[in-house]
Amino acid sequence: MHEHDVVVVGAGGAGLRAAIAAQEEGADVAMVTKLHPVRSHTGAAEGGINAALRDGDDWELHAYDTMKGSDYLGDAPAIETLAQDAPEEVIQLEHWGMPFSREDDGRVSQRPFGGLSFPRTTYAGAETGHHLLHTMYEQVVKRGIQVYDEFYVSQLAVTDHDEPEERECHGVVAYDIKSGEVVGFRATGGVVLATGGDGQVFEHTTNAVANTGDGPAMAYRAGAPVEDMEFVQFHPTTLPSTGVLISEGVRGEGGILYNGEGERFMFERGYANNAGELASRDVVSRAELTEINEGRGIDEEYVELDMRHLGEERITDRLENIIHLAEDFEGVDPLKEPMPVKPGQHYHMGGIETDENGETCVDGLYAAGECACASVHGSNRLGGNALPELIVFGARAGRHAAGTDLGTAEVPVGPSARSETEDGLETPVNPGALGVDDDVAADGALVEPSEVVEHAVETERTRIEGMLERDGINHAEIREDLQRAMTEYVNVFRTEEGLKKALETIRECRERYQDVAVSDPSRTFNTDLIHTVETGNLIDVAETITLGALARTEFRGAHWRKEHQERKDESWLKHTMIAWNGGSPELYYKPVVLEGENKEYEPKVRSY
Ligand code: FUM
Repeated sequence: MHEHDVVVVGAGGAGLRAAIAAQEEGADVAMVTKLHPVRSHTGAAEGGINAALRDGDDWELHAYDTMKGSDYLGDAPAIETLAQDAPEEVIQLEHWGMPFSREDDGRVSQRPFGGLSFPRTTYAGAETGHHLLHTMYEQVVKRGIQVYDEFYVSQLAVTDHDEPEERECHGVVAYDIKSGEVVGFRATGGVVLATGGDGQVFEHTTNAVANTGDGPAMAYRAGAPVEDMEFVQFHPTTLPSTGVLISEGVRGEGGILYNGEGERFMFERGYANNAGELASRDVVSRAELTEINEGRGIDEEYVELDMRHLGEERITDRLENIIHLAEDFEGVDPLKEPMPVKPGQHYHMGGIETDENGETCVDGLYAAGECACASVHGSNRLGGNALPELIVFGARAGRHAAGTDLGTAEVPVGPSARSETEDGLETPVNPGALGVDDDVAADGALVEPSEVVEHAVETERTRIEGMLERDGINHAEIREDLQRAMTEYVNVFRTEEGLKKALETIRECRERYQDVAVSDPSRTFNTDLIHTVETGNLIDVAETITLGALARTEFRGAHWRKEHQERKDESWLKHTMIAWNGGSPELYYKPVVLEGENKEYEPKVRSY
């Protein structure tokens, strides 16, 4: 068994930042990651990092834009922390050598992004995430932080008290992809989950194949509730044939969206009379799909994004990467013709419930980045707010896990923060676990932390051996059916009937997963095995998204319901929480915190 003070799971933006912060506090840190750090999906982030850096802008404006973008479902203390800490974090990156794009006078460039009242998105061309990742990885190497790459963490080692708030996380269990060994990592200080997104729940996504919701699924099974899972972001400009992202930076620089009739529909059809193409993403994605569904799309599938008028020099200077992506993945030269684009899953606002210090309700368990829900994005994230989230909350989680006192958090976490329980949700099936008579937590008799980790390793070894030894169904069939149902029914537009159909399919997938088997018997680089374990995580994540969506009978941010066309603040100004509860999902709610440092945010009509 390996032993470190802090174990960070995942090595994208949040994981790297957490590791550096913990190491700076004097902790012995290990990063345990299924991918080599510079292959993490953060590297695909294009647009930029929002931070109030200039005269005329300030953190309060950034916080206001974020709260409005969230459709008033973000928690003010977390949002204000993001806006206050982002400038310092960006300056820190600059000092570490991040090659930001710059103005002629040498200042870091900033451009407009959707839903922002000030052009505050800093960037490095249209490959900001790539540079962010490499800049921080250099720091990890320089500091000698130990990286266990190609170790797939598949379970947490947690004690088994009934109340999640009484549980303690003592480490993780990982499958060594190179050797096939199942190994334990004991964390004496804390475990920070930074596993990224879960876009593989859907068919058409900007996310990498590795984004399978491992963190949320593991934390959920270990007792940490997941929050606001129904809120999934669909980015308006993805390439139709692959889902590859075309950055919002294109519209930030002045790119224009046209429908099949040549109309600049965001204005001409009144979707966003002020902001047009730079309305927030939920608004633009719905507008595009409305155009397509009403017959004004192209080939009944997409609209077009034109940036030719920006001129080759500006495009090459600020968006060069976009030329290559459009050419390589869609066969289109955007200097000569518009790019076909359509909405695609991009980001998950929901995730593991944390406070603004990255702590979950399970002692010793932290989460940061996309896998977490610190509740800064509420029901819709603004473009350019994901990368500051990674570095701000990654740093805070890392510091806290290393034992630094960050003060008492204002956002309450854990089941004791509940306001009410949903007991009347009508579902077509009984969701939740099948054949699971206990959860991942260790036996109550185990008191020593190392015993808890050893027990978790043994349990996981048995589960994995079972998958390798039995005959049964291949995970790919299950995953395909899950993705198809989620894409058809839990997409931009949602109906009660569709959500119920999705739940039925998820239930069937869960039943079939009981017999899942790995056909490749090898012990080295067995990707079939990794994908099989991931598929189980996708099922858990898909179920919580769909349950939350079915229960929320209103239209807020990215969650559109055909039967419920209004935001209902009187009844729905609250977070959806789902707890594993021994395998049967328990739905409850907790209030949104709108009280900020200097003011109370008052929900207003949200228009752009
Ligand atoms: O469009 C983009 O470049 C994506 C940015 C983001 O998701 O924040």
